[in-house]
Amino acid sequence: MPETPDPQVRKAIADRIRYYHDLGIYDFYRRPIEKSQPASAVTLPSTILDDTEVPTDMPKPRTAVATAKAADRESDLRLIREDIGDCTRCRLSKQGRKQIVFGVGNPNAELMFIAEAPGADEDERGEPFVGRAGQLLTNMIKAMGLGREDVYIANIIKCRPPGNRTPERDECETCSPFLMRQIEVIKPKAIVALGAVAAKTLLAVNAPMSELRGKWYDFRGTKLAVTYHPAFLLRDPRQKKETWKDLQMVMKDLGLPVPEKPQE
Ligand code: URA
Repeated sequence: MPETPDPQVRKAIADRIRYYHDLGIYDFYRRPIEKSQPASAVTLPSTILDDTEVPTDMPKPRTAVATAKAADRESDLRLIREDIGDCTRCRLSKQGRKQIVFGVGNPNAELMFIAEAPGADEDERGEPFVGRAGQLLTNMIKAMGLGREDVYIANIIKCRPPGNRTPERDECETCSPFLMRQIEVIKPKAIVALGAVAAKTLLAVNAPMSELRGKWYDFRGTKLAVTYHPAFLLRDPRQKKETWKDLQMVMKDLGLPVPEKPQE
């Protein structure tokens, strides 16, 4: 007679099966339980996940759904990247860019930073904000109590303009539909536009940064705040205080604890 697992283990197995179903895995087969195995560690291999040990503290179905969503978002982002291909849609492809800088971070991020365009370091590495301004952005994110892996970082355009010039309007228009698709996939709770180019492109307004920052905007149903670009803050560190106010506004909205002062 096969042993019937106790109710707790049965429930754990049912939860695990639901978890696999959420991931789109339906085929299972049973392997006999070896005598030496503890009752709390029943193996439940599937055709895809062989030899998966099933501990009793298995993820709750909600976690499973979140995992599946994260996987969906990751593959949706991959599709957008594939659609971009080795892009030649605008002149920047012929003006010395080394590679496309797609965006980086958590596909499930609640917070997304959008800046202007890759610089030399980013063009070299294929990742946004990896140079000096990137170090400052990383510190800003840390001051919010987050890490780069918690947020998503992208730019209005994905190729470095020659000599780091400001992107032309038609370059933004050609490239930004891909960013819009990234936003639609990630569905952040809040977007922070870093600097005038990002703010003006996303909000289609023409106003000085001092007027744009410090308040919330609606961007296609997502809350959007504007603050200074980290590269600008490197040139004018006095504006860090105002930037911190903007970030605190965002933190409050995301339910993040707001310390009086950012950590050094
Ligand atoms: N400046 C930007 O606007 N984006 C980057 O990725 C790096 C520097």
